[in-house]
Amino acid sequence: MIQKLRLRHVRIFEKKEIRFFPGINVLLGKNGAGKTSILEAIYLLNFSKSFKASRDEDILQIGRDYFQIDSEWEHARYRKAAVNYVKERGKRFIYDGVVIPRVSDVIGSFPMVLQSPEDFRISAGAGSERRLYFDRFISQISPPYLRDLMHFRKLLKNRNACLKNQSEKKKYHYSEELEIYDQQMSPLMFRILQMRKKAVSAFNRELCRLYRESFNDGSHAEIRYTASLDAEDEKEFARIHRETARKNSDKEVALRRSLFGPNYDKYTFFRRDIPLINFASQGEHKIWLTMLKLAEGEILKQRSGEEPLYLFDDLFAELDLANSRRTVERIMEKRQALISTTDLNDLRRHGIDSAQSKIHIIEI
Ligand SMILES: Nc1ncnc2c1ncn2[C@@H]1O[C@H](COP(=O)(O)OP(=O)(O)OP(=O)(O)O)[C@@H](O)[C@H]1O
Ligand SMILES: [Mg+2]
Repeated sequence: MIQKLRLRHVRIFEKKEIRFFPGINVLLGKNGAGKTSILEAIYLLNFSKSFKASRDEDILQIGRDYFQIDSEWEHARYRKAAVNYVKERGKRFIYDGVVIPRVSDVIGSFPMVLQSPEDFRISAGAGSERRLYFDRFISQISPPYLRDLMHFRKLLKNRNACLKNQSEKKKYHYSEELEIYDQQMSPLMFRILQMRKKAVSAFNRELCRLYRESFNDGSHAEIRYTASLDAEDEKEFARIHRETARKNSDKEVALRRSLFGPNYDKYTFFRRDIPLINFASQGEHKIWLTMLKLAEGEILKQRSGEEPLYLFDDLFAELDLANSRRTVERIMEKRQALISTTDLNDLRRHGIDSAQSKIHIIEI
């Protein structure tokens, strides 16, 4: 549970301190007050980067040369977590007084689930958005997955450089060098595949339950995962991998990039056996995504034994009253959630009564 957040030179905030409580924390403020920026700062403590900005410099208050985020937590892996960013030097994470040596070690420190307007990209955007979402999620619960993925990406970059080199020399055959890369990549690819399969089946279990409990109109949600290379055991996987690579070497050399592997895997979202991407309305996308996030929270809880922190930015947009009330019922059971809003009446309408003792209003 997060107890305190201190920001220095973060976006609109020159200096800001906020105390949080168990239960529902409502961040109340007008447009541009800094609600999303607060969620962004908390997110960064667990994912090492923002969900909005692609560069750390965007978070830095205009005209400043450093930012600092300090936080205090209870029942978490660390009691105090800080990020310090200095222009030209980058970020440094200091958790319980110790500098975290690798940024990737930060990921998963404070299990959390974020819902934000950017989520629309996950269900409606390109396949790479869904891969990114699941990669981030699995990395949060499995440091070995993140290590494998980073190692794979590095080898892929080198393999692509090798293809480019061969292309310039017009060598279209499956070279020894390519084979050596594939031998190194194959076990990584196999493990990534296994982890993705496991994650998808965990999500499907939770989605199925959530949909059944929330709607009794026969609607159900499902994620179908299609791997670009698939096999049940590692030896068979290596064989298929080598075969595919050998057969396609001319194409890969001509196009100067690898044409199969985890970066070509597909996740398709279905509702009542119909793919969401082509058919769902905005509200239906939003319901699906809300269920996805609730499922994510359940899996995190099962894995870590602790309720994650829920960050909800723009929770009620696109949802009708019945659907937002369904969501609110679930959120009220959570140990700690932060919800941003511009209007308390709007919250009340959607079933969050600020007079309840579990609900704390924080004016931004
Ligand atoms: N690097 C920066 N330096 C200074 N100000 C910034 C920086 N980046 C963003 N801002 C400003 O910070 C303000 C807060 O933005 P934020 O998205 O957190 O607001 P919000 O409370 O979520 O608003 P909304 O209700 O519209 O979603 C905006 O006015 C934005 O222009
Ligand atoms: Mg906002």
